[in-house]
Amino acid sequence: MKLNSVVLASAAFAWAEAGPAQDVHKQILAPRKISKCSCPSGGFKPTTAQQWAAASAPGWNAGNTLDAIPTEGSWNNGPLQGSTLDVVKAAGFKSVRIPGKSRVTYTNHFVGGSPDWAINDTWLQRVSDVVDMATSRGLYVITNIHHDSWAWADVSQASSNQTLIEERFYAAWLQIGRKLACKSALVALEPINEPPGNNAEDGAKLMRLNDLFLKALTDSGGFNSQRVVTLSGPGMSGDKVQWFKAPSNITNPWAFQFHYYSPYDFTFGAWGKTIWGSDADKAAVVSDLSAVRGNISADIPIIMGEFDASQLQCEAAARWKWFDHVVRTASSLGIVPIIWDNGVDNLDRVAGQWRDPIAVDITLNAVKGVPNSLADSTTDGSATTQTSSAYIFNKAGHNTTDQNVPFILNGNAFKSLAVGSTPLKEGVDYTISGPVVTFKQSFLSGYLAAEGTPGTKANVTVAFSKGAPSQVELVQWDTPTFGWYSSAAKAVAAGTDLWIPIAWKGLHRVAAVRILENDGTFLVDDWTKWLPDLQKGRSTLNSQWNSDQDRIIITRSAIDAVIASGKNTTFTFEFYPRAVGNGNYVDYTLTV
Ligand SMILES: *[C@@H]1O[C@H](CO)[C@@H](O)[C@H](O)[C@H]1NC(C)=O
Ligand SMILES: *[C@@H]1O[C@H](CO)[C@@H](O)[C@H](O)[C@H]1NC(C)=O
Ligand SMILES: *[C@@H]1O[C@H](CO)[C@@H](O)[C@H](O)[C@H]1NC(C)=O
Ligand SMILES: *[C@@H]1O[C@H](CO)[C@@H](O)[C@H](O)[C@H]1NC(C)=O
Ligand SMILES: *[C@@H]1O[C@H](CO)[C@@H](O)[C@H](O)[C@H]1NC(C)=O
Ligand SMILES: *[C@@H]1O[C@H](CO)[C@@H](O)[C@H](O)[C@H]1NC(C)=O
Ligand SMILES: *[C@@H]1O[C@H](CO)[C@@H](O)[C@H](O)[C@H]1NC(C)=O
Repeated sequence: MKLNSVVLASAAFAWAEAGPAQDVHKQILAPRKISKCSCPSGGFKPTTAQQWAAASAPGWNAGNTLDAIPTEGSWNNGPLQGSTLDVVKAAGFKSVRIPGKSRVTYTNHFVGGSPDWAINDTWLQRVSDVVDMATSRGLYVITNIHHDSWAWADVSQASSNQTLIEERFYAAWLQIGRKLACKSALVALEPINEPPGNNAEDGAKLMRLNDLFLKALTDSGGFNSQRVVTLSGPGMSGDKVQWFKAPSNITNPWAFQFHYYSPYDFTFGAWGKTIWGSDADKAAVVSDLSAVRGNISADIPIIMGEFDASQLQCEAAARWKWFDHVVRTASSLGIVPIIWDNGVDNLDRVAGQWRDPIAVDITLNAVKGVPNSLADSTTDGSATTQTSSAYIFNKAGHNTTDQNVPFILNGNAFKSLAVGSTPLKEGVDYTISGPVVTFKQSFLSGYLAAEGTPGTKANVTVAFSKGAPSQVELVQWDTPTFGWYSSAAKAVAAGTDLWIPIAWKGLHRVAAVRILENDGTFLVDDWTKWLPDLQKGRSTLNSQWNSDQDRIIITRSAIDAVIASGKNTTFTFEFYPRAVGNGNYVDYTLTV
């Protein structure tokens, strides 16, 4: 569900139709004359859900692609290419989830209305072709209907017409089922992405959709009644798993699916939580995933159909620890991890390169149970300095000194260090003592020096006897500069964000933003005054601020909040390295 900011704007047109819920399974289904598809024999080697799950870990999501609105290519990704799936497969992923949007949204290409809700066959053919593109490469597939969950199938709205939703939902799956009826057993189907639901009543309505999905698959024929399906509870959320009820009469092999982006503040860049990895943080993951496992019968496999902590908003060492722990914990519970990728976070589909190959390697090794050595970093959320072995930072104007960089070896040993294909020499460029690498001043001064220009200077790859490598990025930093440092809130054109040019001086990344009104109160989430020093008064990425290669962005909602407050307000943009009092921040004032 994780969307990028480009996409969030289009989320505003969710709608639902008025009318009371009523039991209409019979009305919907009875009058149809449905001919079942027949498929050539031999095209389907039946598999159990357990076999399917074991063979499909880990997986990758082709997010913001076929699910884009109004059509594939409308958001940040072009149409899915076979070459992208080649990169995914070469990295070691075994499956691809294809969020599929049924186009049964009238606003986007419904070509017929009630009761058949005809879907444009050109579109169904495209879905079929993309599925073939994946299976022809030996990749397992899950496809679904995706944003329809809020566009027309939201059963949680008081005004929704359950009759209409059920009619449309069954009709959609009958057509998708027919189109995909003869696909091989590699192809699994998922009824709908993250269907909204907040209570037992919504849960019951969603379970009716699960039933209709299964009924549509049976009615569509072909191999669909033998096909693996995944089923879910409200929101595909682990903490709503108690409202999921397995259909009593299900005959398809099936798995349970849920999504995991926890803790929210860390994975979504909220409230300055850039530190992750304490024992309590780790215990929360174990508890969350165990609760899902504990609610689902032990013979049913579980698919974590989306999970991610984007490198765009998470500090690298913390992110690597999160991936290792989440994937390892999931795998130990028989849960299949499928990484979310909206095209901005993980794979650069144009360049065919992973933006954070370390996280990918960590995932692949954790799935296999191979121990990964990890960059050490601050785990105490109350710390006033955040350290990280993913980086050696050198402040402009300072000469370097020897730097101790600790790792969490997890039973492995150091194997080699290199910059690109050039190995570092032990005893000359670095020394090792236990889990700590000491980089010598003589080595570092080749990249980092008092008079050096700010920016990323080199990446040292650190390889271990087992598992994923790690990386130490050598960064010369100084405090960034903005094009200007204050402006009048009301001068920003109505309906638009405020863009401020930035000259980055180190990592091109905002760590956190504190928003303080001139009477000492915080503009948003004033309760964060109770949080530790690095989180007090900090706001949330996308909600109040954002950034790109050239600009800092203050969002419309933050500008409106300043105007509503009637108080001059200072936005303190903080950068990496993060520490109270290290001067690595810029104040921007919006006046009223
Ligand atoms: C709900 O949808 C059904 C099926 O299209 C329709 O017959 C019924 O009139 C709708 N109810 C309301 C209150 O609009
Ligand atoms: C179906 O989709 C194709 C491709 O977008 C479009 O050219 C065609 O007009 C659509 N057909 C209908 C009946 O809307
Ligand atoms: C399974 O049972 C549910 C209700 O318990 C019913 O609505 C559904 O039609 C049944 N499905 C099949 C495939 O028979
Ligand atoms: C079932 O899930 C709920 C909600 O996440 C959780 O509180 C409960 O402990 C889980 N039950 C088991 C047996 O794990
Ligand atoms: C950095 O080292 C160079 C060479 O040893 C020296 O000339 C210079 O004064 C030092 N600069 C600072 C800021 O210490
Ligand atoms: C080091 O790696 C990061 C990605 O992890 C990249 O953004 C940066 O450009 C690299 N630095 C150099 C000097 O290659
Ligand atoms: C906001 O700051 C401006 C410029 O410093 C000042 O003129 C103005 O009086 C301030 N407004 C309030 C409400 O404090």
